Amino acid sequence: MKLVTVLGLVLTTCCGAALFAGAGSRDAGRCRSSAESSLVVQLAAARETSSALRNLSNEYGDATIGAQRFRETCAACHGANGQGMPRQGLDLRTSAFIAGRTDEKLVEFLKSGRWPNDAQSVSGLLMPPRGGNSSLDDAQLRNIVAFLRQMQREAQREAAQENSPASAARTD
Ligand code: HEC
Repeated sequence: MKLVTVLGLVLTTCCGAALFAGAGSRDAGRCRSSAESSLVVQLAAARETSSALRNLSNEYGDATIGAQRFRETCAACHGANGQGMPRQGLDLRTSAFIAGRTDEKLVEFLKSGRWPNDAQSVSGLLMPPRGGNSSLDDAQLRNIVAFLRQMQREAQREAAQENSPASAARTD
């Protein structure tokens, strides 16, 4: 926020100077509108940073450690990037099941897994409790959940990029 205030002051001073120097009112208008649009950009950036910080502080576990644990235990069935493997494990990047549950609920889910006869079973295959690795304690499962969140955010970002007009116009 400080940065935005400073920037605003600098721009206001610049407009003031332009007026003072007797620049035409057209110039002053242009200065004001460029100051406004630049402030809008700065405000958007500040909002993005603060929401990124909020995400970080809300983060339940450590996504970097979680990524390691995921690769050791979960990747065999779900793929190194959580993209899913035919007849082994579902795509976790775009899973609505993950998106729709709190971190606590996901840890509970990972502890119990999902049995083929479960009403929620998608594929009729076993999702083993703790991914079949009993050494994963709750703290490690929380790290894995943090990594699942990160994985989903990346997938959302990629989808948004693919749907943007700039990339739709690309021919390669
Ligand atoms: C032996 C293979 C295997 C391993 C290892 C495994 N999973 Fe799974 N997992 C599955 C299968 C199969 C399903 C889908 C079950 C179904 O059809 O409902 C699944 C489902 C899930 C789901 C639910 C997805 C949804 O959209 O319903 C999550 C979340 C999940 N696994 C996370 C993990 C995590 C995290 C690990 C590592 C700790 C892990 N799995 C390890 C096989 C595995």
